[in-house]
Amino acid sequence: MLLRDILPENLTEEQALQELQDLAAELSKLDKAYYQDDAPLLDDWQYDALKKRNEEIENRFPLLVLLNSPSKKVGALASETFSKITHKEAMLSLSNIFEESDIIDFTDRIRRFLNLSSNEALDFIAEPKIDGLSFSILYENGRFVKAATRGDGSVGEDITQNILTIPDIPRVLLGNKVPKIIEIRGEVYMKKDDFFALNEEQIRLNKKVFANPRNAAAGSLRQLDPSITQQRNLSLFAYTVGYVDEPTWQTQEELLNLFKSWGFPVSKEIKLCRCDEDLVSYYRYLQEIRSDLPYDIDGVVYKVNRTDYQKRLGFIARAPRWAIAHKFPPTQAQTRLKDIRIQVGRTGVLTPVADLQAVNVGGVMVSHATLHNEDEIKRKDIRIGDMVIVQRAGDVIPQIVEVLKEKRNKDTEIQEFVFPTVCPVCKAPVIRDEDEVALYCSGGLNCPAQALGRLKHFVSKDAFDIEGLGNKNMELFFDFGWIRTPVDIFLLEEKYAKQLELMDGWGKKSVENLCAAINKKRKISLDKFIFSLGIRGIGIATARLLALHYHSFDNLKGQLLSLFGKEDLMQIDGIGSVMADDLIAFFTDIKNMDMLDFLLKQIEVDNFENNQKQTALTGKVIVFTGTLSQMTRDEAKAMAISAGAKVSASVSSKTDFVVLGENAGSKAKNALNLGIKTIDEKEFKQMLEII
Ligand code: IVH
Repeated sequence: MLLRDILPENLTEEQALQELQDLAAELSKLDKAYYQDDAPLLDDWQYDALKKRNEEIENRFPLLVLLNSPSKKVGALASETFSKITHKEAMLSLSNIFEESDIIDFTDRIRRFLNLSSNEALDFIAEPKIDGLSFSILYENGRFVKAATRGDGSVGEDITQNILTIPDIPRVLLGNKVPKIIEIRGEVYMKKDDFFALNEEQIRLNKKVFANPRNAAAGSLRQLDPSITQQRNLSLFAYTVGYVDEPTWQTQEELLNLFKSWGFPVSKEIKLCRCDEDLVSYYRYLQEIRSDLPYDIDGVVYKVNRTDYQKRLGFIARAPRWAIAHKFPPTQAQTRLKDIRIQVGRTGVLTPVADLQAVNVGGVMVSHATLHNEDEIKRKDIRIGDMVIVQRAGDVIPQIVEVLKEKRNKDTEIQEFVFPTVCPVCKAPVIRDEDEVALYCSGGLNCPAQALGRLKHFVSKDAFDIEGLGNKNMELFFDFGWIRTPVDIFLLEEKYAKQLELMDGWGKKSVENLCAAINKKRKISLDKFIFSLGIRGIGIATARLLALHYHSFDNLKGQLLSLFGKEDLMQIDGIGSVMADDLIAFFTDIKNMDMLDFLLKQIEVDNFENNQKQTALTGKVIVFTGTLSQMTRDEAKAMAISAGAKVSASVSSKTDFVVLGENAGSKAKNALNLGIKTIDEKEFKQMLEII
């Protein structure tokens, strides 16, 4: 049995000393990786488990506590490359709890400490535990002086120039009750959307992909060149203070309100809790809405509300007695990687997918995970047969975090994965575009996977949206050779209706319905048409920009093929050089031009006029939740968009209205908490009217 597997209560003194030394060395290595290199070696919960083990052994053998014990340290030493700032007051950490039952211990301890009876009020402020990077900013006489990271808790790194690139930071604290000297503390983080966009960009530029928003935030903030920080979208929340010459508030609640009044962003999810039950329900509520939040959180923090109580409670070792972090259970699990499959997308990109032994990850069975690309497999040294840690974060596709190399069985043949050099579907050679990480099948439309993928895209919701041509039927008609190019869809009736009627599962009526559905879509708006072509990098939003700019398809084609095609394209806000090249490449490919010529004989593309009329929803951000009675969610979204609104998937402070259908869920609660106006279906329809 390994020393690590022996429970603290069963360790001998000798074993305990050895284990404490091992833990100190290991945790110090992990801290360096986490704080200095922004490249954690373990997931938070694994790290926390080691810390907890260290603490338990120390509690049992207090005489063995080492001078360099991890329990005496907060974070890692500041890195050598930034100049140092000594915090006026140490930046400490929080103790963690993991179970709901630990809440009672925490509040009981405080009551005992303050000598409060059970019927005396003891209020808490509950806050989300933001998964980012803590900062401390010094303001003197209301003016920004300097900013630092936590570092080792006493000395941090000078990130003044970097933090000043974040637009959310007030340069001057305006308003009431600004103390003469104050260290304002909080968390810099990256919103999930910004994180995904950044990684997409990193992939395009053949640069390192960040493992999670926290690492991306840390990597973006701790840049010696602040102009890089400036290019990254960072956000922040203020949640506490360090040194203050004279506090001007009596409670945490008041402090948070002051932060807001001084121009600091404060999380909208903050709640006043009057009893243990309130804390429990807050924890459960946040766990429920966690994936809907625009930023990552890894738990909640409970803080005694009254600052006089906080002062009396003080600190033990490295953490305040008046606050505690209640962590969420991990959404990770171990399982075996059975196989690596290569999927071929409609643009030819080869994406490796992991086939996993099905495993329960945070309540959801996971049997596949994305492996992103060849570089990712190499970097993590992922091999078929390995035991791996899979992670599921919110609605994101499961990922493989790391390989448990120590479990790689030396006698069996676990070999390095070799990426195919030919497309697994059409056997055409695999190519890698300059500046890109992705590998492509060079087969183009001769590759059935690409051809079918593009056809499916052509009839998909935001494109031609043809009812009756779902994946199954498209595969069927493709296999028969009836639909191989977009124009074939519109020739299906003329060529194959009679044959189809005679087939199993089909009949006169169903074929008539299908043909009617196809014929209904012989007229299409320019934006949808552009999107339907499946040009690399052109999503529906970009297609709309192009439609707005060029108005008609003939004009678009003419301009793109002209001498100034690229310059003209790049004048459109939102279109860069890579996209422009991809568009021009599409329109200069003779095969595509032939396809378009045939297709345009069958369909009509409407000119796109920017005749948007003003409605009460124009320019507003709206969110739908629940079931609508008179229209589908997609219809309602389309109506909102054409009225000039922006439809968002989750409720945030930027939301203007939340439309409540029946059985509205957490988004409704969320709106209520954020104080966002909710409207019903009837009101929504009224607001669509032109004013
Ligand atoms: S209060 C005296 N509030 O979690 C301690 N910390 O694990 C003051 N964190 O170092 C910290 N969200 O970086 C506080 N709402 C929140 C927080 C929060 C995230 C971080 C912070 C802290 C770490 C402790």
